[in-house]
Amino acid sequence: MLSNQAGDGKRTSLHGHWSSKMAFILAVTGSAVGLGNIWKFPYVAGENGGGAFVLVYLACVIAIGMPVMMSEILIGRRGRRNPVSTMELLGKEEGSSKNWRYVGMLGVIAGVFILSYYSVIAGWTLSYIVKSATGTFVGATATQVVADHEAFKLNVGMMSFVHTLFMSLTVFVVARGVERGLEQAVRFMVPALLTMMIVLLGYSITSGSFGAGVEFLFTPDFSKLTWGSVLEAMGQAFFTLSIGMGAIMAYGAYLPEETSITGASATVVAADTSIAILAGLVIFPLVFANGLQPDAGPGLVFQTLPLALGQMPGGAFFSTIFFILLSFAAWTSAIGLMEPAVAWLVEHYERTRAQAALIIGGTIWLLGFGSVFSWNIWKDKTFFQGTVFDNLDFLTNQIMLPTGGLFIAVFAGWVMCRNSTADELGGAGLSYKAWRFGARVIAPIGIAIVLFFAIKNVV
Ligand code: TRP
Repeated sequence: MLSNQAGDGKRTSLHGHWSSKMAFILAVTGSAVGLGNIWKFPYVAGENGGGAFVLVYLACVIAIGMPVMMSEILIGRRGRRNPVSTMELLGKEEGSSKNWRYVGMLGVIAGVFILSYYSVIAGWTLSYIVKSATGTFVGATATQVVADHEAFKLNVGMMSFVHTLFMSLTVFVVARGVERGLEQAVRFMVPALLTMMIVLLGYSITSGSFGAGVEFLFTPDFSKLTWGSVLEAMGQAFFTLSIGMGAIMAYGAYLPEETSITGASATVVAADTSIAILAGLVIFPLVFANGLQPDAGPGLVFQTLPLALGQMPGGAFFSTIFFILLSFAAWTSAIGLMEPAVAWLVEHYERTRAQAALIIGGTIWLLGFGSVFSWNIWKDKTFFQGTVFDNLDFLTNQIMLPTGGLFIAVFAGWVMCRNSTADELGGAGLSYKAWRFGARVIAPIGIAIVLFFAIKNVV
C-alpha cells in the first residue's frame, strides 16, 4: 500500500487537495445537489402524500443529516485516505478495531449500486435535452407529454445509449482527478441551476395552482404517514445529502486543515435543502394546474416540466437549458458516487486514476442494464420491492445509507476520543457539544428506531 504520511506527522492526501475552502464547499454541494433534489424529492414526496413526509424529511436532514455529515468530513480529514483505509486506520489509531473498514466497504458498494441506476435516470435527462431542443414539447398537451414519456421508457436502444454516454462522461472526469475536473464544473453549475429554478418558480407562481401546490407540500396530514414512508423520508435525507456511504468522507480527505467543518456542512445542507424545496414548489403547482397525478412516480419531473415549459414563450429554449443544467447536476453527483471506489482501488491496488475509473465505471455500466431493462423488457419481472430498479433504490437509500450513517455517527461519537474530534471541529464550544449530542445520541437512536420499525413492517 502507498504511504501518505508527511514528515511532520500530519497526513496528506495522495489525490491532491482542494485549492480553497470555497472549492470544497462547491464540490460537496455539487455532489449533494443532483437528481435527488429535482427528480427524486418531488416524486417521493408526491407518492407519500406531501406535507407530513416533507416535515419528517426536514427533521431528518437537520437532526440526523447534519451530525452525520460533520462526522464524515472529520473522519475523512483525519484519515486522509479512501473510506476503507481511513476507517481501518482510525479504528486502530483510536484503540478500537480495524474491522471498521467494513463500513468503508459498505459505502464503496452502495456508491456502485446507486450510480448504476442514477446513470440511467441521468441518461433520461440527456435525452430530454435533445427532445426539448428539437421542439418536441412546444404546445404539447399533458396527454401527449405523458405518452411521449411512456414511449421513451420502452425504447431500450435509446436508453442503453444515453446510459452509456452518461457513464463515459463520468469516467472521463473521474479519470482526470479531483481538482482539474470538478471545481470548474460545479462553480458554474450550482448558481446556474439556482437561477433557473427561480425563473421556473416565477412561472409556477403565475401560471400554476400555486396555493394547491404549497398546501400539498406543507400541510401535514399525519394519517398518511406509515413507518415505510418515515423510512423513505430518512433515506431521502441521506441520499440527497450524499451521506452514509463515505463519499463526503472521501472529499473530506482532500480538505485543508484550517477549514471549518461546521460552517461548510451548514452551507451545504442549506443549499441542498433549498433546491429540493424549490423543486417541489415548481413542480406541484404545475401538477395540480394540469390535472396530473402527484404520485406519478419516477416520471414526474419528466412529464410536468416539459409540459409547463412547452407552454411558455421561448419554451423550447428554457426547457433545453433546464435539462442541460440537470444533466450537469447529475454529472457532478455521479463523480462523487464513484470517488470512494476509485480512491480505494488507486490506494489499495496501486492503480492509476484512469485505470481505476475505467474498471469501476465499466462495472457500474454493466450493472446499469438491470435498471435500463426495469422500464421495458424486465418491467414485469418483479420481486420483493418491484423491478431491479426498485430493489436497488430500496436497498441503497433505505438500508445501506442509513446503516452506514449509523456506524459513522457511532464511530465519530463513541469510538473516536474527545480530543481527536474536538481537534477537527475546532474546540469544545457550543457547536461542538451540539454535534456530539447529535452523533452520540440523536442520529444513532433515530436511525435505529426508523430502521427497526420499517423493516419489521416490510418483512
Ligand atoms: N446526493 C445526490 C443527489 O441528490 C445523490 C447521491 C447519493 C450522491 N449519494 C451520493 C452523490 C454520494 C455523490 C456522492 O442527486
